[in-house]
Amino acid sequence: MQDILVTGGTGTLGRRVVPRLREAGCKVRVLSRRSREAAEGIEFVTGDLATGEGIEAAVEGAEIIVHCAGSSKGDEDKALNLVRAASRAGARHLVYISVVGADRIPVVGGIDRAMFGYFASKLAAERLVADSGLPWTTLRATQFHASILMVVRGMAKLPIVPVPAGFRFQPVDADDVAARLVQLTLGEPAGLVPELGGPQAYPMADLLRGYLHANHQHRLIMPVWLPGQAARAHRAGANLTLDHADGTRTWEDFLADQLGSPRVVPT
Ligand SMILES: NC(=O)c1ccc[n+]([C@@H]2O[C@H](COP(=O)([O-])OP(=O)(O)OC[C@H]3O[C@@H](n4cnc5c(N)ncnc54)[C@H](OP(=O)(O)O)[C@@H]3O)[C@@H](O)[C@H]2O)c1
Repeated sequence: MQDILVTGGTGTLGRRVVPRLREAGCKVRVLSRRSREAAEGIEFVTGDLATGEGIEAAVEGAEIIVHCAGSSKGDEDKALNLVRAASRAGARHLVYISVVGADRIPVVGGIDRAMFGYFASKLAAERLVADSGLPWTTLRATQFHASILMVVRGMAKLPIVPVPAGFRFQPVDADDVAARLVQLTLGEPAGLVPELGGPQAYPMADLLRGYLHANHQHRLIMPVWLPGQAARAHRAGANLTLDHADGTRTWEDFLADQLGSPRVVPT
């Protein structure tokens, strides 16, 4: 039985990774900042990757570490604390989830950093994993449906909705990403593997329209031109992976399941 630590095992992705690993017969331990009771054969360990507190104990004895913990800021610091502890403990496989575009979206000026600093953090974290001295695998995925839903929900609260002009997204289902990540986790360390994107790319305005339609709302959409190099790269599609549109569940299906709406996205 393989002993696996899943960081972020309580998050959108991690919640889907953990049961798959259990089904595959692994012994799973989940790192969380909050203490939780063990349940369904899953042990919880408390620690904070941002401060490093509790991380030594969390990684101890873990043969494989699946690093799904993340937030909009500071993922390189979290990765550094994890990598240090994992290297000392001698894990035999470190698996990381990054984002499509991490290597293609330049984050150079203040505007880029303010709006798209996440991509620079993910790239820095990728490098820490690759340079850790541990055998590793990194998968880059596009934005999860749930994250896009959160964004469009927030946008729909405004009476007139500014939408970045020329931006497209290729939302992928977290279940599809979890399935791929577990396959990679149980395989040999493979370095940087082919990306995973959703089945289709949509203009941001269409993703918003789909949500509004499904939610029986009407809003005026106002395209806005975002400045900076990272925004330019988005307009050029650097956040998409059209050659790896391997996700199975569409945005329409996701919305229908979430909101009980018909499976149509108007354009
Ligand atoms: N969401 C997307 O669209 C997307 C796309 C591509 C890649 N990714 C990457 O996939 C990963 C998972 O994303 P997600 O959407 O599933 O995230 P999420 O739902 O926001 O969950 C974040 C997880 O990270 C844990 N976490 C956050 N800060 C932590 C800290 N300081 N110490 C320990 N744990 C911490 C949280 O655990 P507790 O709250 O229990 O402590 C939670 O389990 C991230 O690395 C993200 O960058 C996400």
